[in-house]
Amino acid sequence: MSNYHIKHLEEYYQVYRKSVREPENFWEEIAEEHFMWQKKWDKVLSWDFSKPEIKWFEGAQLNITENCIDRHLATRGDKTAILFEPNDPNEPAIHISYKELAERVNKFANVLKSQGIKRGDRVCVYLPMIPELAVAVLACARIGAIHSVVFAGFSSTALATRINDSECKMVLTSDGSYRGKKTIDLKGIVDDALKDCPCVETVLVAKRIHSDIHMEARRDKWLQPLLDEASTECKAEVMNAEDPLFILYTSGSTGMPKGMVHSIAGYMVYTAYTFKNVFQYRENDIYWCTADIGWITGHSYIVYGPLANGATTVMFEGVPSYPNFGRFWEIVEKHKINQFYTAPTAIRALSKQGSELVDKYDLSSLKTLGSVGEPINEEAWHWYNDNVGKKKSPIVDTWWQTETGGIMISPIPFVTPTKPTYATLPFIGIQPALMDEEGEEIKGNQVDGRLCIKFPWPSMARTIWGNHQRYKDTYFSAFENKYFTGDGALRDEVGYYRITGRVDDVIIVSGHNLGTAPIEDAVNEHPAVVESAIVGFPHDVKGNALYGYVILKDTGESRDQNNLRNEINQIITEHIGPIAKLDKIQFTSGLPKTRSGKIMRRILRKIAHKDISNLGDTSTLLNPEVVQDIIDNAL
Ligand code: WTA
Repeated sequence: MSNYHIKHLEEYYQVYRKSVREPENFWEEIAEEHFMWQKKWDKVLSWDFSKPEIKWFEGAQLNITENCIDRHLATRGDKTAILFEPNDPNEPAIHISYKELAERVNKFANVLKSQGIKRGDRVCVYLPMIPELAVAVLACARIGAIHSVVFAGFSSTALATRINDSECKMVLTSDGSYRGKKTIDLKGIVDDALKDCPCVETVLVAKRIHSDIHMEARRDKWLQPLLDEASTECKAEVMNAEDPLFILYTSGSTGMPKGMVHSIAGYMVYTAYTFKNVFQYRENDIYWCTADIGWITGHSYIVYGPLANGATTVMFEGVPSYPNFGRFWEIVEKHKINQFYTAPTAIRALSKQGSELVDKYDLSSLKTLGSVGEPINEEAWHWYNDNVGKKKSPIVDTWWQTETGGIMISPIPFVTPTKPTYATLPFIGIQPALMDEEGEEIKGNQVDGRLCIKFPWPSMARTIWGNHQRYKDTYFSAFENKYFTGDGALRDEVGYYRITGRVDDVIIVSGHNLGTAPIEDAVNEHPAVVESAIVGFPHDVKGNALYGYVILKDTGESRDQNNLRNEINQIITEHIGPIAKLDKIQFTSGLPKTRSGKIMRRILRKIAHKDISNLGDTSTLLNPEVVQDIIDNAL
């Protein structure tokens, strides 16, 4: 019996129960029936959350690209695998068939090999949303190289940190990128980054904007001539189930970004299975996820999940506001999109434009709408449901993380009744738990607590690159024998989950996770700054925005505060990227601190939220007098 495609609520409960009672049998059946293996596993699962060590399908051998490409060739060779929609609506869309994708990936893989890349080497991919990005990722997987995609909106410093952390030998980039009416000098950013990256031997450059760029002798090479020379045949490297597939960096609440490592087999099985069910994908549907492949959503649900199902996946280069705010809906009409997956921040920005731009286009092809990346507020949910889905396309509010690899809590459309702002039920195989502050599991319904997962699932990250201890400390130490997500959640009377947000110092701004510590470090680089503290505050489009409290050096001279604010944001842009800029900067004489010198962020958060009615007991602070001063000068 196949449980691969769930079609009724009854069936969901039945399959869910099986996945929890006999997880190994359950996942073995899914893996056996729906994927291509060079060799089957010796053991489905071994795990120990105390180490932590998790292995799925140990002993198996495979190549994920054979599953995402080769096995479709016989039946879907001419079907569009990737549908590329350019930034400029006047530029034609490109349909890349499975056959063409096979050729392009093989050529690219041969180029990587000819440039000295071997199995296990790390390759940094810093490309805009053009077909080369998806092809590059798959080419790495073809030869067993580990890709590390860095979102092409990150600054040169952020790029360098990520390249060095995983010691990438090669960088794949382009001359530049289009973003709405702007162009971005990507290669210039790479050149800057590489001043501090001795590990990089080669840079391959795709042409996109045909700008005049500097090419460093010996190091930099144009990609196209190498591709032209390369063979369209490349045997897939035979990989072990637990070999790393990729590294993807995510912000932590402290210090360096965390290079989450995902391994091949479990990731493949879980992303494919979730894709099929959460989007109810059927043959010949056109599926569009608006994320960037620089984030996990793009890895799992633009590239691997859809392609493993032989789907047609849309890649969009542009932005929702160019040439106007009707662009998304124009694309839905043009390509007759069936499944549309986006982020609440985009929905809020578009809803601000009213419904005329939506009504202009024929959206009748839509069957399922998705949301991901942050809690979706009630207003945005209704706008999406009423104006885009016309109340007939269920919204799947999918909760998951870079670390989880795939969707963890989500409705299944036409199966699970939806409820605004609720991610609803755990996906098959996922065993959530809500925990109280004492570390006890809170049973029953109508409760809230810290969200943990009690049992391994196939696509969980296996470690943090180069720092297993940090992996253990961050995810497996807060609660014994459980994976801690960093999120809070509540469970309603029927067992539906609603994610309430981060409970650590990660702030989600426009769907991007930002740790406060690295931004504070950047702010503190300004010569006039003594110390700073950053908190989030609610923002009607971005979800959250950043509020910085900054102590300046006392030089006796007065300085123009707006200039200082611009300079501080400039430093943040250089160190991290424009996404981390502060919306509000309040200069202050002090920051509230505990007697042990820890900043009391709770108080700063409340002031930024304009919620000062209940600041709690401030008398135990080291410096209670600064609190009133901060309140009086709050922005
Ligand atoms: C948040 C994105 C509420 C959450 C796939 C999580 C969500 C973090 C949702 C991971 C959702 C993601 N509802 N919150 N549907 N989806 N989040 O690693 O706080 O970029 O921990 O992965 O986003 O963000 P990441």
